[in-house]
Formats: sequence, C-alpha cells, structure tokens
Amino acid sequence: MKYFVRTYGCQMNVADSDEMSRHLRARGFSATDDPDDASIFLVNTCTVRQHAEDRAFSEIGRLRRWKAARPDRKVVVTGCAAERTRDFLERRFPHVDLVAGARSIESFGAIVDGLLAKRPADESLDYAAGAPDGRVASFVTIMRGCNYSCTYCIVPHVRGRERYRPMDEILAEVRERVEEGVRDVTLLGQTVNSYHRDGRAGRNTDFAGLLASVGAVDGVERVRFISPHPFYMTDGVIDAMATVPEVCECLHLPVQSGSDAVLHAMRRNYTRDGYLEIVGKLRQAMPGIVLSTDVIVGFPGETEDDFRQTLSLLKAVGFDWCFVFKYSPRQGTPAAERSSWPERLVEERHAACLDLAERIGLERRRRLVGTIQDVLVEEGGAGRTRGNYKVRVAGGAPAGRTVPVRVTNTDRATLEAEPVDVTAGALSAAG
Ligand code: SAH
Ligand code: SF4
Ligand code: F3S
Repeated sequence: MKYFVRTYGCQMNVADSDEMSRHLRARGFSATDDPDDASIFLVNTCTVRQHAEDRAFSEIGRLRRWKAARPDRKVVVTGCAAERTRDFLERRFPHVDLVAGARSIESFGAIVDGLLAKRPADESLDYAAGAPDGRVASFVTIMRGCNYSCTYCIVPHVRGRERYRPMDEILAEVRERVEEGVRDVTLLGQTVNSYHRDGRAGRNTDFAGLLASVGAVDGVERVRFISPHPFYMTDGVIDAMATVPEVCECLHLPVQSGSDAVLHAMRRNYTRDGYLEIVGKLRQAMPGIVLSTDVIVGFPGETEDDFRQTLSLLKAVGFDWCFVFKYSPRQGTPAAERSSWPERLVEERHAACLDLAERIGLERRRRLVGTIQDVLVEEGGAGRTRGNYKVRVAGGAPAGRTVPVRVTNTDRATLEAEPVDVTAGALSAAG
C-alpha cells in the first residue's frame, strides 16, 4: 500500500505534506516516487496566485485516468486551494475521493480513517514508520494562520487566524526530528516571529526565547525561521539571532514594495524607512548576514515612480536573492476590487525587477569566492551554508556531516566548492 504526494506552494504546505505523510505511514502506507505504484495520490494545493492554483487543477484533471486504471485508488486533494474552492473541486472533478482544506490539517488523521473506513492508526507504528528517511533539514510548524490582512493576500482566508503551538510540543517535535537525523531546523509560520506576542498568561516565552530553546536542544546545529514579518522584527529577536550560536545569520524578510504609498495600500504596517532601519540593525549585529525577500510588482495603483522605489530599495539593501511575483488578483481580497494594470506593463516590471535582483545577487555571491564555509551536507551530496546558500561539493561528501569547504565558483545560484583542510588556516567570511 503506497502513497504519492505532490506539493504546491510554500514551506507551510511542505510541512503539512510531511505531517499528512506521517499519518499515512501510521496506517501502514509507505511513500513512493512513482504514481503508478500508488493507491493514494495526494495533491496538496496552493492558491496564493492564480498560476499556482491552475497548475494544481490541471494535475487533478489528469488524475482522472490514473483513477480509471484502478477505481479502488484514492485521489485526495488538500491545502489552500482545497479550502477556497471545495464546491468547485467536487463538481468539476468527480474522480476526487476526498477534499480536505488547509484548516483541517489538524484533524487529518481522523479524516483519512473515514476515507479508508479502517481502524484508527496504531500509535506504535507511527514512531517506527516516522523514522529515518535520511533528511538533514526539516521544517517545524510553530504557528498556523495569520492575523494580518494584507489587501492582496488570500492566505488568512484559507488558513484562518493565528494559532500558536505550545512550546513543549514544538520542542518535543524538534527532539523527534533530531533522533531521525535532522540537524537543521526551520521554524515555520505565516508571521513566524509574532509567536506568543500577545503575552497571555501561561505563555512562558516569546519568539526570541523560543529561538534560544530550540537552539539548546541537543543535536540541533542550525536554526532558521520563515516567514518573519517586519513588524515583529524586534530588538529582542535580532539580539537572539546574533547571540544564539545555532541561529543562522540569514533572514528571508518579505518587503513586497519599496514605496510607502504602495506599502500603505497593501496594509503592510511598516514603511520603507522602517524596513531599512531593521536591515541596518541586522547588519550591525551580524555583518555578514544573508538577506532575501519577496516583492510584488504591478500592484493596483503602483505608479512608475513607486516601481522605481522598489528597484532602489533592492539596491539599497543588496539582497542575496529576491523572489519577484506578478500581482495576481485573488477574489474576495480588497485589492482585487481595484483595476489591474495591463498584463504587458506587469510583465515589463517583472522582467526589470528580476534582472536587477539577479545582478545584485551575483555581486553578493561573488564576494564568497575563495572563502571557507561550513556546509551541512544533505541527501544527494549537496549541502547548505549557514547563510542558506546551496553548495555542490566537488567529489561529494557524506550526508549529515558539516564539512569546511572553499567556494570556487559562484556564477550560478548553487555555489561550487572543494573540501579543505581547516588546519591550513584560511580566512572565513559569512555566507
Ligand atoms: N506570510 C508571508 C507570505 C506568504 S505568501 C509574509 O507575509 O511574508 C508568499 C509571498 O507571495 C508573499 O510574500 C507575496 O510576495 C506573494 N503574494 C501573496 N499574495 C500575492 C498575490 N495576490 N499576488 C502576487 N503575489 C502574492
Ligand atoms: Fe498574507 Fe500578509 Fe498574512 Fe503574509 S502577513 S500571510 S502576506 S496577509
Ligand atoms: Fe502557502 Fe500557497 Fe497556502 S503560499 S499558505 S500554500 S496559499
């Protein structure tokens, strides 16, 4: 009995797919890379932009034949698009056996039991079946949902309001992952650094405290987190990043736009100067910090001047990398009621922004040539620096080990490097 999982969307969905996989393994299923071998096909969907949703829907359409080949097979559709369009999915794709939206992830075990009409999971199996799949890096969800209401964004509609996982549950999951071989832990949430910011009674830590506690778990070498919101990038969080040795010197801090007018219309709750001030503090505390971001181009009302301010912000910060998205209207969000720019203009801004981001990224990478970096090697022989650069080590290296390497080529996003003998005494720079 095998299952196949296809995941669209963000790291949140990747973590949810892992969690659903654990539920399936606890019921005696095992994962396969070949859909032909599978009796359950799980499509974990995303709806953040129309393009993401369309890709998932066309895959679901193609599964009609997969199901027809063996009608006892099960097609399961989960995630954010499932939450948003349940009725449409059920009408349009009668071969789908189960639609379970992103909000039902917390009860996925019971939902699967219903589908399989089988006895509930054997808990003892859960642990054994959850054991080594040889991964070195893993996501751990610390909060779900979002209390923001950025005017372009569908996420709060499909994921609901913020819920925090208790700290002891998070630490228990981190320990479990470490026992499976994980060394690099990424804490996950839509506004991950708002963790326990309400200070309600009985909540024994804030996000900075959580970083320290996760770093202190035996066997954890590296701690990262995604996605932080600039509003909660407090001095306490920056200080924890700089002082907890396991917390890596890298940050993906979505900015969305460099124009105050657009940031205001997006309801982002910070200004361009406020964002730059945070970057200043981060660089002061961690001079070599690797910074990345998300940008949306073509937001309704974004003028040529607004757009130029986004470009100038990218230059001012010098991001190591930047994801550039074309604005995509999402039904039910306030921005979708405003008139959109013509596709051609959005395309032009997208291309110009990508081009600039790539040039800045290349410049940032070039400073790493010749430096020594610690690479934590993942399955398949490639690994990552503390700054989260992907590195291919010449001659390969054993997974799960942290090896010092010298960076030899930075032309591509994946760096190339050779192993070094640290006793040689070469100089190191953060990367
Ligand atoms: N919670 C995260 C982002 C989640 S969505 C945060 O607030 O930072 C991931 C990214 O998708 C966002 O950062 C944004 O750049 C992009 N995005 C979200 N909605 C979008 C839309 N309607 N059109 C285009 N890009 C969008
Ligand atoms: Fe969406 Fe804004 Fe929440 Fe991020 S903070 S998930 S962009 S509403
Ligand atoms: Fe993530 Fe897409 Fe949902 S970006 S939160 S999977 S809408």
